[in-house]
Amino acid sequence: MYVPTEKKFYMIRRKNLSIPLLICFFFSSIFWQRKFPAPPSADATINPLKGNADATTEGKRTYTMYCVPCHGSKGKGDGIAAPGLAKPPADHTSDFVQKQKDGAIFWVITEGNNPMPTYKTTLTEMQRWQLVNYIRTLAKTKK
Ligand code: HEC
Repeated sequence: MYVPTEKKFYMIRRKNLSIPLLICFFFSSIFWQRKFPAPPSADATINPLKGNADATTEGKRTYTMYCVPCHGSKGKGDGIAAPGLAKPPADHTSDFVQKQKDGAIFWVITEGNNPMPTYKTTLTEMQRWQLVNYIRTLAKTKK
């Protein structure tokens, strides 16, 4: 059977285009959705409440209200809403979280990363630092 060469050429071109397109989608999904961990620049932000015990107590209150449903009462990432999420919530007792600087954790709480919400407007800056203080008390290995 005779196949017009022009049509053949068109089909090949379409096929070849789909591969670079797929690669583009793949990388854009990584760069635009995956924000954790924080960028290195966040490390330089100084925690104004470091060592402030009252702030840590306040942080626990906020944590119970806003974070426990996903991260669990001990911060292990086993909250009641956790099984329904597209990604498991981070374990706040883990080295992965605890090894990050205060500024980086603050950045994470501020920015969020779907399905984790952003707290830029829901919580004040001080409330977010209080949370950082409280998250430090959840460490598996106390320093
Ligand atoms: C709707 C569920 C949900 C709520 C509510 C939530 N988180 Fe998260 N959180 C997540 C998920 C899911 C991840 C992991 C996301 C990822 O790996 O991309 C995460 C990750 C984190 C991380 C680790 C980020 C990193 O460096 O990888 C920190 C710290 C954190 N959350 C703090 C908090 C705090 C503090 C609150 C309360 C103010 C909170 N989260 C509320 C779902 C939630």
